[in-house]
Amino acid sequence: MPVVRRTIGPLELPVLTGPLSTSPPVSTPRPTGTRVTLRPFCPADVVLVQSAAQDPLIPLITSVPSTPGRAEALAYIERQHQRARSGEGWSFAIADAETGTGVGQIGLWPGQSLRRTGNPDTIGYWIGPEHRKRGYAGAALALLTEWAVTVQQMPRIELYIEPWNKGSWRAAENAGYTRDVLLPAWQKVGTQWRDMYRYAWTAGTALRTPGEAPRKTGPKIG
Ligand SMILES: CC(C)(COP(=O)(O)OP(=O)(O)OC[C@H]1O[C@@H](n2cnc3c(N)ncnc32)[C@H](O)[C@@H]1OP(=O)(O)O)[C@@H](O)C(=O)NCCC(=O)NCCS
Repeated sequence: MPVVRRTIGPLELPVLTGPLSTSPPVSTPRPTGTRVTLRPFCPADVVLVQSAAQDPLIPLITSVPSTPGRAEALAYIERQHQRARSGEGWSFAIADAETGTGVGQIGLWPGQSLRRTGNPDTIGYWIGPEHRKRGYAGAALALLTEWAVTVQQMPRIELYIEPWNKGSWRAAENAGYTRDVLLPAWQKVGTQWRDMYRYAWTAGTALRTPGEAPRKTGPKIG
């Protein structure tokens, strides 16, 4: 089994510095589904980032600032634009498909499929506290997974989720991911090493739009 670096999963990659243009790369893709659209962050998402800054977990596992200032939120938005420019991966704002309102963030971080490293391809996500339990995480995860496997041709995507975080692992299962192992003391969150469930989506697994019943792939019996 390949050695997996432990600072992946829902963690975001190192913070980059640069001019505060807050304009996304022109060629940023926009995967679109019925429930959510994945689009670049824009300055109107400052309020969303400020609310995520108040969450006890999000600033620990991402580069969302732990202080709610406007300048810090704009700097976060600019960092998301830099991800694609630098080749680190793709960071999207999750927007409600009907209204366009930003409700969260999701990022695809390529590992072995693009870079031939020992690290897996992973996805991390968060939803703003006031937008939770409306199916946004599951819908965004299904949509980005579909984009990753069809457009980026990734054969396997992994998620690392703490066992207590039922909202996250339910979202993963709703999107078609399967739990394959519990990894003790796997990832440092804040100052503590935490156990993680590893969830995986592998080529050949049915992609699911949350809300749909699981597709039956086996032969009919009876
Ligand atoms: C985890 C998180 C992304 C879930 O987002 P969400 O949009 O509320 O998730 P969904 O609406 O898609 O919910 C998926 C399922 O989990 C359930 N759920 C959501 N939050 C839950 C919670 N706190 N406790 C128990 N169940 C929860 C939903 O009711 C839904 O249930 P269902 O499968 O029966 O339909 C969000 O709570 C969050 O951003 N938390 C902080 C950051 C984080 O944990 N990121 C993930 C790190 S691995």
